[in-house]
Amino acid sequence: MSDIKKIGVFTSGGDAPGMNACLRAVVRKAISSNLEVVGILRGYQGMIEADFIELDSESVSNIIQKGGTVLKSARSNEFRTPEGREKAAKNLRDQGIEGLIAIGGDGTLAGAAVFYNEHKIPVVGCPGTIDNDLFGTDETIGFDTALNTAIENIDKIRDTADAHDRLFLVEVMGRDAGFIALHSGIGGGAEVVMIPETLTDLEDAKTSIHALMSRQHRSSIIVIAEGDEIGGATDIAKMMREDVRFDDIDLRVCILGHTQRGGSPSARDRVLATRLGVAAVEALIGGHANVMVGIINNVVKLTPSKNVWSRKKSINYELWGLTQLLS
Ligand code: F6P
Repeated sequence: MSDIKKIGVFTSGGDAPGMNACLRAVVRKAISSNLEVVGILRGYQGMIEADFIELDSESVSNIIQKGGTVLKSARSNEFRTPEGREKAAKNLRDQGIEGLIAIGGDGTLAGAAVFYNEHKIPVVGCPGTIDNDLFGTDETIGFDTALNTAIENIDKIRDTADAHDRLFLVEVMGRDAGFIALHSGIGGGAEVVMIPETLTDLEDAKTSIHALMSRQHRSSIIVIAEGDEIGGATDIAKMMREDVRFDDIDLRVCILGHTQRGGSPSARDRVLATRLGVAAVEALIGGHANVMVGIINNVVKLTPSKNVWSRKKSINYELWGLTQLLS
């Protein structure tokens, strides 16, 4: 057990729906455990600039349903330097902050580990990113909402694709990972899915699309992860347009982009975020440092932060098999 009396909480990196629900759980659990809570605005940059606000139970009312993050987010270059981290540590100590809860993705948790090693301020991470690419949890906060947004849009694109007998290349987020593409491809009934975890072969894609067209299936959707190893949807469209065998196909590109990061969190994300927020405070109180809380097989687990970004989370290859089988 630790004797921490005051903690800081912040969100950092790309925002994700459910970050506010997580913050609310952190604040209320901390207060019910007799801890004071300070909100750090704009992530690590706010730590360096001492941009702090006191948080109480009321300050997190009416935020569980909101997308974005009320604490704001930023990517801080200064925090990448030892001098920046020194300033941040001094500000935290001046404020009496003895432990931190970091809500964010791999960059956020990597920063937290470096900070802990240098300054020994305990940090517990909560996985918050739509990409779902963090080892140590089955799902990250924001993934389910982003997935639903992607599927809603794929459904709409299918209507217009069908009306015009077109092939649509739909690009979803995932800089280094294909979780959103794979799951939205299955949920949206995509004819082909392209993700960085598997080799993308345009010859195979052509064969599938031509086979479908010969069966009077005139419109198709290819879902592409932005980080696919042969390029995003714009690059792949260029390759297809320059290829004679795609000449007869009317092709369009739709990039869903940051729409996937916004919106009210789904029920699943709110519940996940709430469980993880409470678990993070319990971990800090229990004396843990340099760990991330996650949920694996519906049980809360702690994973050493270094494993979170050094070990790659695998996609579900059974799902990948389904994309091959069902198109
Ligand atoms: O949050 C992760 C992510 O959604 C990636 O999939 C994407 O490449 C990136 O954020 C874009 O973030 P930004 O535009 O904020 O730099």
